[in-house]
Amino acid sequence: MKKKTKILFVCLGNICRSPAAEGIMQKLVNKENLDNNISVDSAGILNYHEGELPDRRMRNHAEKRGYNLTSHSRPVQIADFYQFDLIIAMDDSNFDNLLEMAPDLETKQKVHRMAEYLQRYMNDYIPDPYYSGADGFELVLDLLEDACSGLLKEIKTASPPDN
Ligand code: 4NP
Repeated sequence: MKKKTKILFVCLGNICRSPAAEGIMQKLVNKENLDNNISVDSAGILNYHEGELPDRRMRNHAEKRGYNLTSHSRPVQIADFYQFDLIIAMDDSNFDNLLEMAPDLETKQKVHRMAEYLQRYMNDYIPDPYYSGADGFELVLDLLEDACSGLLKEIKTASPPDN
């Protein structure tokens, strides 16, 4: 791959869905030795949980699948729209908020929905698990594993490795 693809995953609080997406994608990137080609980060629309580790429930469910979620919550900043190549929203509300924040047409075009990359699931968005039970967290992880694998395939197709 020629240029490094920088991905920012975004949800509302940056303590459940987007840090899980970050951890899942990072593991895929590591597994395929693509650290020089793809970087991942996450952020939230809200600053309400700034500095916090991911929600304990999400950390526990992710841990059972082999993901260690260690990022700290931070809000999306305007600089992110210039810094990242792909800014990926978990649901339509996050998507609309990001489009409102994006400074210009070029940066608006970086904003995508996570559901675009689903391969096996037909969901339109990644549901907020915050007020759900264990099933909600498991569903989010199922959806994110599917979408991260689809996203990786798409990046590799768009920008194949040199060798
Ligand atoms: P997330 O879940 O957007 O997946 O991190 C949420 C976390 C916190 C809140 C809402 C959603 N909250 O309102 O505090």
